[in-house]
Amino acid sequence: MDLIQTIQEKAKKLNKRIVLPEGSEERTIKAADILIENKIAQIILIGNPDEIKSEAEKFGLKNIDKATIIDPKNHDKKDHYIDMMVEIRKKKGLSREDASKLIENPLYLSTLMIKNGDADGEVAGAMNATGDVLRPAFQYVKTKPGVTVVSGAFIMILKDKEFGEDGLMVFADCAVHPNPTAKELAEIAVTTGHTTREIAGFEPRIAMLSFSTKGSAKHEMVDKVVEATKLAKEMDPSLQIDGELQSDAAIIPAIGKKKAPDSKIAGNANVLVFPTLETGNIAYKLVQRLAHAEAIGPVLQGMAAPINDLSRGCSVEDIVRLVAITCNQAAGIDK
Ligand code: ACO
Repeated sequence: MDLIQTIQEKAKKLNKRIVLPEGSEERTIKAADILIENKIAQIILIGNPDEIKSEAEKFGLKNIDKATIIDPKNHDKKDHYIDMMVEIRKKKGLSREDASKLIENPLYLSTLMIKNGDADGEVAGAMNATGDVLRPAFQYVKTKPGVTVVSGAFIMILKDKEFGEDGLMVFADCAVHPNPTAKELAEIAVTTGHTTREIAGFEPRIAMLSFSTKGSAKHEMVDKVVEATKLAKEMDPSLQIDGELQSDAAIIPAIGKKKAPDSKIAGNANVLVFPTLETGNIAYKLVQRLAHAEAIGPVLQGMAAPINDLSRGCSVEDIVRLVAITCNQAAGIDK
């Protein structure tokens, strides 16, 4: 069984409730139909019920009547969610009037459903930009205890099985936080270690990447990675983490041995933590294109409940896959 099948089989056993705020969007509703048919998750669609039903009929979808459909303009919990919004954002001065408007936006409504325990996770972004999906999530679902920064990991499935864990590697942050501080970078390393265990299913060996290996260069950007490595080890001593390492020293055994002979990670890393979003985003796209790797994600990590963002160019299959990943993350958070 490959990784995706394993994730989907695990999701089936979990029976999580996943909210899809873009409920009448064509790929979303088709994915919902597949997810319900294969019993991967319980599906909540947000949207106008008549529109959703007519789209389902148009595409000949047989399972949409088994989804829970929430009309954002008119549902039983609207006033309760508005109260919650005003309470959560009282320091930010959110008025009841503004909350009443925001709650009709499916991207806000879905985060309030999660906050109130009415859903276990969310997948969105087929027709909304990353920032619009993430902002309500940051404001209402917030981060896990002990975590201040949300980041995005990619599971890279490489053609060359020599690297990582039989060809699987995890890269982060490739999607969210542009320029982390040392403490934030340490958190990113720790949450990526946990994502690796929960979703990729192997024990992480984390390399904190830089343009320097063990003091070969002096620069404040190197100092940040050195400090982040120290903090990450303190934050979760169960994780194997080392840095600062150049990418070749991290993944090529002969170079790792030469440049960092005392490191257990050098030459042997299966998780790469990049010092900035620029480096992570550029690296994963280059590996995807030049090495023909499959990139699964971004898997958003560090949130108090799993909320994942799709690319607007996503396929139906991408949505099905991300919902299954979201179910697995929800189970990890329950633990
Ligand atoms: N983790 C947790 N909370 C965060 C984070 C984070 N990484 N970033 C912002 N927040 C919180 C803030 O604290 C703030 O909370 P508050 O309102 O309670 O004070 C709220 O979110 C809004 O913060 P802003 O600084 O106003 O953030 P903004 O909404 O402008 O931007 C965003 C956040 C959209 C995620 C921004 O960091 C961004 O654009 N990141 C890059 C995303 C991107 O383009 N990625 C590359 C493409 S994805 C790909 O290629 C796969």
